[in-house]
Amino acid sequence: MSVHKETVKRITTHQLKEMKSRGEKIAMLTAYDFSMASIVDAAGIDVILVGDSASNVMAGHETTLPITLDQMIYHASSVVRAINRSLVIVDIPFGSYQGSSREALKSAIRIIKESGAHGVKMEGGKEIEESVSRVLSAGVPVMGHLGLTPQSIYKFGTYTVRAKDKEEAETLVSDVRLLEELGCFGIVLEKIPANLGKVVSESVSIPIIGIGAGPFVDGQVLVTHDMLGITKEFKPRFLKTYANLNEKMSEAISNYVNEVKSGDFPSLKESY
Ligand code: KIV
Repeated sequence: MSVHKETVKRITTHQLKEMKSRGEKIAMLTAYDFSMASIVDAAGIDVILVGDSASNVMAGHETTLPITLDQMIYHASSVVRAINRSLVIVDIPFGSYQGSSREALKSAIRIIKESGAHGVKMEGGKEIEESVSRVLSAGVPVMGHLGLTPQSIYKFGTYTVRAKDKEEAETLVSDVRLLEELGCFGIVLEKIPANLGKVVSESVSIPIIGIGAGPFVDGQVLVTHDMLGITKEFKPRFLKTYANLNEKMSEAISNYVNEVKSGDFPSLKESY
């Protein structure tokens, strides 16, 4: 599907809620740069997440922790320049909102003002209640993120499935309700049991977007580089790869190398 600027209506947070209420699933993917965002947007994705997974995918870090606010704003503004239709949501990076609600507000405003994105995502529940409220009170749409929250990886110690026990599941359910009450427009739930995803999604009116949260939630998000098979090593059970671009790109690049070495490229056709 190709979407053209003149005819397209932009997706809003309000529309996402309507999609949930009429049972239409929401499709969300990551993008960190202009070229990828153009492809993702034109293919009809509803929400583009400028995720702090850019720290892993773009910069090669082991975790999402090192990426800075300035770097997130750079990625987000590149994405915003590419889109016609998608809603663009940006992760507030680790260390830019946990200190105080004032810091959270300042970071969120910088993201919206300097990148032109439409909303922010923040990891956590009760512990960041004040920050979420303050950002929302400035009119910035906030998406929550619960379950496996990669910014807390050193607290968890592992990337394993979260909320398998009753206590953690109950905390998650009450955090979801809290985020809805505060006014979040949606929540990402990462790596939790599918039946918990179902319970949560049925208990709130805002969209629940899953990544490893099973099929019963209101939409799905994946890291684009993972689902296109560009990243090679990352193969969690929740990931479905829709292409093997790593192989295709490697093949194309080695063909280029061979043709440059042999003198077959450029030919007269590619010359002036
Ligand atoms: O940073 C990211 O890409 C994310 C998704 C995995 C939900 O937060």
